[in-house]
Amino acid sequence: MTGDPTGLIDSFRRAGQGQVFAFYDQLLPDARARLLSEAAEIDLGEVDRLVRTLVAGGEARAVDLEGLAPAPYEHLPSRGGDPRSWSEAKAAGEAALRAGRVAAFTVAGGQGTRLGYDGPKGTFPVTPVRHRPLFQVFAWKILAAGRRYGRPLHWFIMTSHGNHSETEAFFGENGHFGLDRARVHFFRQGRMPAVDFSGKILLQTRDSLALSPDGHGGSLRALDRSGALDLLAGEGIDTLSYFQVDNPLVRCVDPAFIGWHLVRGSEMSSKSVSKAYPEEKLGHFCIRKGNVVVIEYSDLPLGLQREKDPSTGGLRYEAGSIAIHAIDREFVRRMARGADGLPFHRADKKIATVDAAGGEVRPEKANGVKFELFVFDALPFARNPVVVETSRADDFSPVKNAEGVDSPATCRADQLRQFARWLRSAGASVPTDASGLPAASLEVSPLFGYDEDSFAESWSRLDPKPAIAEGLCLEAPTP
Ligand code: UD1
Repeated sequence: MTGDPTGLIDSFRRAGQGQVFAFYDQLLPDARARLLSEAAEIDLGEVDRLVRTLVAGGEARAVDLEGLAPAPYEHLPSRGGDPRSWSEAKAAGEAALRAGRVAAFTVAGGQGTRLGYDGPKGTFPVTPVRHRPLFQVFAWKILAAGRRYGRPLHWFIMTSHGNHSETEAFFGENGHFGLDRARVHFFRQGRMPAVDFSGKILLQTRDSLALSPDGHGGSLRALDRSGALDLLAGEGIDTLSYFQVDNPLVRCVDPAFIGWHLVRGSEMSSKSVSKAYPEEKLGHFCIRKGNVVVIEYSDLPLGLQREKDPSTGGLRYEAGSIAIHAIDREFVRRMARGADGLPFHRADKKIATVDAAGGEVRPEKANGVKFELFVFDALPFARNPVVVETSRADDFSPVKNAEGVDSPATCRADQLRQFARWLRSAGASVPTDASGLPAASLEVSPLFGYDEDSFAESWSRLDPKPAIAEGLCLEAPTP
């Protein structure tokens, strides 16, 4: 920030946020510059609106559940879906991939606090034998899919201010895992200031604001702001295949899913799995006031989460969101710029701050509010949204917690089950337990096979076939 800061400081005072500059006069020039540049990022009008709608009047308001019903979805052929429609969808998706209309998109801006891992989550070593990091798994799936369809894919990775440089450096140190670096695009998501319960923007230190990432929904405006949408348009890419950084099982580009999205003329499509148990921490696909919405696990009362569907005997709200979407480029532009902005969510948090004398405060209970956008809140604005079933064995085993459910251990076991299942379908004999977990630790490089079809092709070409033994790694020539 250069030039006269008076205007900026005055605008904060007029907005009732003058406390941001409480220590300004005591700061050295560098610290002043830092504070000013952070302050310049803040949209005071937006903060004022959020304070009035989300903070004033006490606690977070309950989500509107009036007239809520489960959302319909396209069932897998194995669960009653029409096999012909699925084949048509797959053919349409493959044609789009061959025509270069699809790019991969990973949201990797989260802080990964629950995992307790120090570093960008995508650098977390996840594979069972070679301990390859999440980013490498995605990179090689994307590289292999590009080869398969004869069109190298562009890959967009959204980072946050906290992990951007480290993420870029990690790719640099690893030669972008063999991808053409001109097709790997990093951009930062936006930040939002935290406020106290009276709506005052909090300082984290005397010379910095308490800023945090604006949620994965911030990806829509960040795609626009970063120029990514124009790049996509220039390359003739109209579909983004969106997934989270925590899920190595994801099919980064899945032709059948992309096909459903395109054939239906959908602006935003989503994959769903049946919830494993009522309290599983997944969002729920629902219909509210005629629109498809996702209701978070924390917002759907347990009674509804446990409700049974008398016609099937299963859960009524069984369709769980695994945060995989196909999103139309121009829909992103409309959401990023138009009047239909995503709504912010309020999260009450413990926020490190300073007291009136500038001393450090580490609160023991929530002392303020963070604001976040969720990408699935775009669904009600999308034309023809389609929800498509997938099996978790093919698409979902996230690493979220250090231990227990959705941990490195469960994810490792799910990868092993997947490799064993591919081997068995291709005709190999693999001893497993009743859950499909092989006795031996195995690994399949995504360059050898990144889904059942590509695996089967590579396996059929292998001669002689290797013995299935502890530590077996099926590799392809390294790029
Ligand atoms: C999320 C979904 C939930 C879904 C589940 C599936 C939300 C609120 N809930 O839960 O509906 O069933 O995943 O696994 O999202 N991220 C950013 N920037 C941010 C915040 C998050 O890029 O500011 C990214 C993270 O890096 C991660 C993803 O978004 O890739 C998910 O974030 P996380 O907060 O871990 O979501 P969950 O609570 O696990």
